[in-house]
Amino acid sequence: MNKKIIDLIIAILVIAVGIGIWIISSNNKTESDNNSNNTNTTENENSNESQEENINSDDKKVAVIYFSATGTTKKVARYIKNATGGDLIEIVPKEKYTDSDLNYGNDNSRANKEQNDSNARPEIKKHINTDNYDVIYLGYPIWWGDVPKIILTFLDNHNLNDKTIIPFCTSGSTGISGSLSTLKNYNKNVNWIDGKRFASGVSQNEVTNWVNEISY
Ligand SMILES: Cc1cc2nc3c(=O)[nH]c(=O)nc-3n(C[C@H](O)[C@H](O)[C@H](O)COP(=O)(O)O)c2cc1C
Repeated sequence: MNKKIIDLIIAILVIAVGIGIWIISSNNKTESDNNSNNTNTTENENSNESQEENINSDDKKVAVIYFSATGTTKKVARYIKNATGGDLIEIVPKEKYTDSDLNYGNDNSRANKEQNDSNARPEIKKHINTDNYDVIYLGYPIWWGDVPKIILTFLDNHNLNDKTIIPFCTSGSTGISGSLSTLKNYNKNVNWIDGKRFASGVSQNEVTNWVNEISY
């Protein structure tokens, strides 16, 4: 075969192979561009989703406010704080309750006398700023089937009108219902949500599950 023709065939083959490689590589590039666009879209969708979630959880400011004489209610309050991300605030009595104050076997113990006195309003050490909160989890131990009187002091000292309050309590065995009716009757301008009583051995999981069931 004429050498010129052979050279021409080789040149055509080289060009054809070059074009083939370019087509294949540009197809791959388009595919990877598409993939990365898809990824971006997914990322954007996800980030929009998480933004919406944040808006939902951010639009209500939550506080977990509690009184606890011996630490049981405090533990549950911490679990609620972990589950909600709300601010944890303790109602600290001006005069701390000693063991003998809490002796419910003695009619003359401080706690028993307070519970028997409808006018008793034990002082709180420091005013709690509740203005910024829309939702308050309010915790206390059950004393003689009811809220400790210091909880009524808290209700007296704060403007809680139109706030949503979710009571929670701990006890040896008594349920929450007696204390719930006291609270509901005491301030009818609060949006009370029926709360829950917990035993001392309650776990974080149990509390988190309860928190997740509540809608407000
Ligand atoms: C004065 C007083 C009265 C109580 N009355 C009851 C009661 O009526 N029913 C009950 O189940 N537990 C009762 N208890 C037990 C507490 O509710 C329980 O130990 C609670 O979990 C304590 O919470 P705290 O550690 O946060 O103070 C009483 C405790 C005290 C000190």
